[in-house]
Amino acid sequence: MPGGNKEAWPHLKPIFQAIAAKAPDGAACCDWVGEGGAGHFVKMVHNGIEYGDMQLISEVYHVFRNGVGLTNDEQGDIFAQWNKGVLDSFLIEISTDILRYKDTDGEPLLEKIRDAAGQKGTGKWTAIAALDYGMPVTLIGEAVFARCLSSIKDERVRASKILAGPSNSTYTGDKAQLIKAFEQAMYASKIISYAQGFMLMRETSEQFKWNLNYGSIALMWRGGCIIRSAFLGDIKSAFDNNKDLESLLFDPFFQKATANAQVGWRNAISTATLIGIPVPALSTALSFYDGYRTARLPANMLQAQRDYFGAHTYELEATPGTYIHTNWTGRGGNVSASNYDV
Ligand code: 3PG
Repeated sequence: MPGGNKEAWPHLKPIFQAIAAKAPDGAACCDWVGEGGAGHFVKMVHNGIEYGDMQLISEVYHVFRNGVGLTNDEQGDIFAQWNKGVLDSFLIEISTDILRYKDTDGEPLLEKIRDAAGQKGTGKWTAIAALDYGMPVTLIGEAVFARCLSSIKDERVRASKILAGPSNSTYTGDKAQLIKAFEQAMYASKIISYAQGFMLMRETSEQFKWNLNYGSIALMWRGGCIIRSAFLGDIKSAFDNNKDLESLLFDPFFQKATANAQVGWRNAISTATLIGIPVPALSTALSFYDGYRTARLPANMLQAQRDYFGAHTYELEATPGTYIHTNWTGRGGNVSASNYDV
């Protein structure tokens, strides 16, 4: 994902593309990303998405292990099957191997690993950038916070002894149906995560005039990197069909894919919630989807509250762009704060 001076690229292109991984169709997974820091930014978002994909897989493993009682080998078989479908990816592939891997005593090594995640910081940088540029990249944010929560292990162990969960923490319904629901939930959540990542890149591209080529970014991620997946081919096609696509969710393919997945997606999350297993990335994805498809959110209430306690002003639906203040109590007076948005 090289960026920097455009004039340098023709000199470096043959070298970089010769050593780069190749997509299944033979295309080199390396291209000039844009001026300045565009390459580093795109690589950072790639890593943030990687955090999200890893967290989604970990949440499904948690539900399958603790809520459904599936063995690691059974889960390995499910993941291997998923790797032949829409979830076909490097991370599903290695998770299959990890689930099946036995320690020298014949027991799964995975179960001996301390559940406290490390992080070198690129996911955190992506979440910070999302806040800085005002983009709701919620899934990567949750993935970073999930690592933070995991790392306060001793505190969690103490909490586990005193905090109540639901009376029933085991799933007793149809296992095959739930497994299918989680496949759909993971797929739909991945679509949301990538849509959010591309929203962040689009915003920064506009601010820094990087003129990012989103189809080319999807192509670069198709091979040779940790988030490589078959699904990136569909993202590439979406941007090939419309290079100015406002959101991946506006692309007819992804619109249909989320619509088809949503029953399973909702069932998976509600099942996990009822049996008390945390699914922060899966559920923030669904909340984002529901928020994104809502024409009128309750932010009118927020605006009224802000104006009530801080005279921060609000706009009326009828007159957007005009900020007014109401003296809600009759005691506050008519003086209002200036308005600015971070
Ligand atoms: C990577 O190896 O892809 C990145 O460095 C991510 O590492 P981290 O999970 O330690 O942040």
